[in-house]
Amino acid sequence: MCGIVGYIGKRQAYPVLIGGLHRLEYRGYDSAGVALLSDTDQLNVYKAKGKVSELEAVASEKDCSGTMGIAHTRWATHGGPSTKNAHPHVSESGNLTLVHNGIIENYAVLREQLQKRGMHFQSETDTEVLVQLIEYVQTSLGLSLEAAVQAALQRVIGAYAIVVLDRRTPNRLVAARKSSPMVVGIGEDGKEFFVASDASPIAEYTKQMVYLKDEEIVVCERDKELRVYTLTGENVPVEVKKVELDLTMLDKGGFPHFMLKEIFDQPSVLQDCMRGRVLPEHGRVILSAVTDHRERLIKARRFIIVSCGTSWHAGLIGKQLIEHFCKIPVEVEYASEFRYRDPVIYPDDVVMAISQSGETADTLAAIELARKAGAFVFGVVNAVGSSIARNTDTGTYIHVGPEIGVASTKAFTGQVCVLTMLALTLGEAKGTIDKKEYQAVFDELQLIPQKIERILEQNDRIAVLSKIFTYAHNFLYLGRGWNYPVALEGALKLKEISYIHAEGYPAAEMKHGPIALIDQEMPVVFIATHHQLHEKIISNMQEVKSRNGRIIAIITEGDEVVKQMVSEYIEVPDTLACLAPLLSVIPLQLLAYHVAVQKGLNVDQPRNLAKSVTVE
Ligand code: M6R
Repeated sequence: MCGIVGYIGKRQAYPVLIGGLHRLEYRGYDSAGVALLSDTDQLNVYKAKGKVSELEAVASEKDCSGTMGIAHTRWATHGGPSTKNAHPHVSESGNLTLVHNGIIENYAVLREQLQKRGMHFQSETDTEVLVQLIEYVQTSLGLSLEAAVQAALQRVIGAYAIVVLDRRTPNRLVAARKSSPMVVGIGEDGKEFFVASDASPIAEYTKQMVYLKDEEIVVCERDKELRVYTLTGENVPVEVKKVELDLTMLDKGGFPHFMLKEIFDQPSVLQDCMRGRVLPEHGRVILSAVTDHRERLIKARRFIIVSCGTSWHAGLIGKQLIEHFCKIPVEVEYASEFRYRDPVIYPDDVVMAISQSGETADTLAAIELARKAGAFVFGVVNAVGSSIARNTDTGTYIHVGPEIGVASTKAFTGQVCVLTMLALTLGEAKGTIDKKEYQAVFDELQLIPQKIERILEQNDRIAVLSKIFTYAHNFLYLGRGWNYPVALEGALKLKEISYIHAEGYPAAEMKHGPIALIDQEMPVVFIATHHQLHEKIISNMQEVKSRNGRIIAIITEGDEVVKQMVSEYIEVPDTLACLAPLLSVIPLQLLAYHVAVQKGLNVDQPRNLAKSVTVE
């Protein structure tokens, strides 16, 4: 998804902007660009299709001087990936240049109106319409840059985070947002400013951050205090937050890919996730969100979980946990469907939004809908200070650190860990959980990190195993009960990074259709830990075997029955059924990773995908 960086101050802007773009690469993009106001007040714009390194190659021979500039990584929406469509876009006169995240829904109408007034367009983007509109308003009404931005944005329908630079006013950058995140960092002397779509590209320069709210405009003026206005021109008090980001967490830490690092991070980040919440000295789990909103949560008529992708799979496990331990009915909805469906939401419902990035546009829209209906909104989010975190009534951060690989791994186990802690806490508060079961889950949860370590020790074996299966064009993943969402997650991991078509199914559904696909070419991954319905899964394996399907079984350590049946298996340590997903998903993450590596693919930034899906 697109990323923005802007700088104005005393430093040379180019290294700040390029460094920032590299930090934003994790979001996924297809082109990049930078605009700099040079030391001689020349506006220099450089763009390239492809990676930031390609932009650097383009800029290497050129004038990159200047203490003010804006930069962008683009993920195509209107118009394909190309240099022409890459940002920054420049206005007709060459005075204004702008970068934009989001989508301008009425761009076609605006473009036609501007063309009728003699303006020309160089790209197919909705963004170029914005810069031309701002210039048109500025010239025809004789406005300052900020007043022109304010007036122009009132005519715009859609989502945006923008930064605009006017070469005639080399002392200021103007930025604005609506439904797309934007943060301003205030540098050392309070007189230099960094603007970005999230804190990661600017965190190495400052911890003082101002998160813009919807429909706010900010003026970053050299040597002056930051000014924030609403779209209608009222002054807004500047609210500075201290944001601590561990920058070493943004590096690969010696692993060849972020994804592998993040898979291996899981034992330690799950400990971080439980720290201060799972309290052995008290023999209890304490979540402040549940303490603070106890009555509201225990009286919930129903939970509705809204999320997308991997977070939706975690939601399916959350459903089983909350229904089992808290006896509250739970519905799990794709946020993208929920937001447009006219769903029935009661004021005594709890709507739970699960999101790693905290910026997923569909999940944000689902929250909006829930709020309008008067429901209580609970967030399970990773990115601290993100839009979802700020738009919920309460919530629990998963605290697994920045996830850079596009394929979500540690966020999934972090989400499941939080959902487990929530179900235990709420079940205890409601009195619906059996004391012995509470104790058993409480004890076992603390052993999960070391059990994951044991699975990770099999990494080399799984790498060898993966070589056998790179030939495949299709994979089937089957699981039941607690492991059914894991089958879905395993299939998603494989398809998004290896581009092999993979489907997850409840194992018993196989005979209602997918069994027709089984032949000697078809790898079938069974998540067959020795919990509920184990015998039945074994029968499903027999059915696949007798049709020459190639089985890879995820089994509990020492399951001799399955070991005798199949040639390929990966063992995971024994655990309680409700915690099985936290272990059984690990070999599937590694399998997907190694298949993609074998195929020579870009594991961390797979084609067509973005880390943070901020458009619907
Ligand atoms: O940031 P979110 O958790 O809201 O993102 C939701 C999905 O876009 C995300 O899980 C996506 O499916 C991942 N690429 C899966 O690995």
